[in-house]
Amino acid sequence: MPAIDLSGKPIAITGAGSGIGRATAIVCARAGMPVALGGRREDKLLDVRSQIERFGGRAIAVTTDVTSQPDCDALIERTCEAFGSIYAVYGNAGYGFEKPIHQTSDAELRAIFETNFFGCMNTIRPALPRMIHAGLGHVLLCSSCIGKIGLPLYGPYCATKGAQVLVARAMRHELKPLGVHVTSVHPVLTSTEFAEVAQRVTGANRMADDMPRFLVQTPERVARATLAALRWPRTEVWTSHTTRWLFALFNATPRLADLALNRFTHSSAATDRE
Ligand SMILES: NC(=O)c1ccc[n+]([C@@H]2O[C@H](COP(=O)([O-])OP(=O)(O)OC[C@H]3O[C@@H](n4cnc5c(N)ncnc54)[C@H](OP(=O)(O)O)[C@@H]3O)[C@@H](O)[C@H]2O)c1
Repeated sequence: MPAIDLSGKPIAITGAGSGIGRATAIVCARAGMPVALGGRREDKLLDVRSQIERFGGRAIAVTTDVTSQPDCDALIERTCEAFGSIYAVYGNAGYGFEKPIHQTSDAELRAIFETNFFGCMNTIRPALPRMIHAGLGHVLLCSSCIGKIGLPLYGPYCATKGAQVLVARAMRHELKPLGVHVTSVHPVLTSTEFAEVAQRVTGANRMADDMPRFLVQTPERVARATLAALRWPRTEVWTSHTTRWLFALFNATPRLADLALNRFTHSSAATDRE
């Protein structure tokens, strides 16, 4: 299949002020896509916009809290006003949360779903009628490699990311006949503000602390793989094929997964006793 020419095709991205969203915005702009940058911290968005404008790209910054549907509606509206249409939307904003489920409050559980799952839905849904009307488009959802398994201490986070995957799978079938592609993105541990935010929200960051540094990827690597999926639409973006197949095996044989994840389970129990 020939590559899709992305030049002049607008994309709206949430969480575009840092990490994976920022890196994706930059590679998309370099590929000629006008980019609408969404996120809560305006200074971060303006910084990305300046960087894009310095190399001749086009970008707008739209202060957006993804937990607000009116904000997300405005992000899509502003994209169309500024660039004439919307070709792609990327529900990327999200945060990590590291705590055993029995220590997680109802408010914490609902809050992470509000951002990671409903925030993603709030972002992509207003773009859909326009894409369907145009008969073309691409929806991207930033899930995680652990959207495919239940990692101890990450139950609520995995649940939000797994929910995204299931909706993406259903949407892919619903939208394909209408000309709209759907892709879920599954990063492994990536060097962004993610770990710092998880530390701030839950006071813990063991996954990042314990991970050998050589396994931590850059946001640019995820961004390049995502850009390739925009050019040659695919169902899922993975930047670690070892993780992809290992987690597929875990799903096929949950007992093997339990044995492998034992180490995390023990540390969870230790936390509980502290
Ligand atoms: N880093 C990893 O190891 C990793 C691995 C797998 C998946 N992921 C996923 O990758 C995505 C991007 O994360 P990242 O790693 O790039 O971390 P990051 O640097 O912390 O980026 C997260 C972005 O989301 C934005 N955000 C958070 N809450 C928001 C809200 N309510 N409204 C609007 N924007 C909001 C933040 O911007 P503001 O604070 O300015 O709003 C920030 O720019 C997330 O969905 C995350 O779950 C990350």
